[in-house]
Amino acid sequence: MTKLNKAIIPVAGLGTRMLPATKAIPKEMLPVLNKPIIQYIVEEVIYAGFKEIILVSHSSKYSIENHFDKSFELEATLEKRVKRGMLKEIRAISRLNISMQSIRQGEAKGLGHAILCAKKLIGKEPFAVILPDMLISKNKGNAGDSLKEMKKNFEINETSSLLLGKVKKTDISKYGIAKIRENSKSPELGFIEKIIEKPSIKKAPSDLYAVGRYIFTNDFFKYLSKVKPDKSNEIQLTDAIDFFIKDNKKVYAFPLDGKIFDCGENIQLILANLEFAMKDPLMRSHIKNYLKKK
Ligand code: UTP
Repeated sequence: MTKLNKAIIPVAGLGTRMLPATKAIPKEMLPVLNKPIIQYIVEEVIYAGFKEIILVSHSSKYSIENHFDKSFELEATLEKRVKRGMLKEIRAISRLNISMQSIRQGEAKGLGHAILCAKKLIGKEPFAVILPDMLISKNKGNAGDSLKEMKKNFEINETSSLLLGKVKKTDISKYGIAKIRENSKSPELGFIEKIIEKPSIKKAPSDLYAVGRYIFTNDFFKYLSKVKPDKSNEIQLTDAIDFFIKDNKKVYAFPLDGKIFDCGENIQLILANLEFAMKDPLMRSHIKNYLKKK
């Protein structure tokens, strides 16, 4: 059994779709209720059982590292003001049961390039990639078991995998769209036959899109390092996955269990806030009253 311990979270993108909010604040630090998105993601990674997070970051994103660091001044103030509940919550953020390192991506040359930046810290081990703007919600306001199941499967079968969700036709051209191999007799959805980055509706092989949870065997780096930049000069992760599959490497498709919000988009971030707020009885009644008056 191979242990899977390391998860890469790339946070070095520019977040242009959320400008001007993301001019000085990283997209990953925008809040869903009173927590930054990245905190939900880190909690999902810990719940899945990973031991190490590698943030691929950028000089403008220092607030992400600061968020998970100890804040002496804040803790002392909360202690003095006897705000015990909040003090406990703040302390817990810097005492998470996981090690966190970061490495820089000097220039945003695409998601594939960001992952390559973490190669040295991954060493010879397998690894997961978790996109920090894709927020999963299950019944209790957490991300559920999707990533945990993928990790478990990897540790038994040593096979790479992707989490797939269903996308609306109008959103097909925003994501990596996958085709499942026919008659595939494997666990879950089956094996992936091909994956295309942002296809037109006409060229899309299905309505299944990669929702931002990936697990790879270490040899995936070999394929990633051979991918050429696309028209916008970015190295695409999807191209490397397709290249990997075409070389007869197996990639399982797991079905997303829960709802997902692409918080890199304004409307999706608003919906994510509503989704999480509606789980709280008090907030739910405020929202219902507000909408009644509209
Ligand atoms: P996105 O394309 O969703 O993020 O990449 P972005 O580039 O920040 O956003 P827009 O499109 O300009 O609005 C998915 C994830 O990959 C990271 C991003 O930080 C995001 O979390 N990423 C992307 C990098 O770390 N480096 C890159 O060069 C590109």
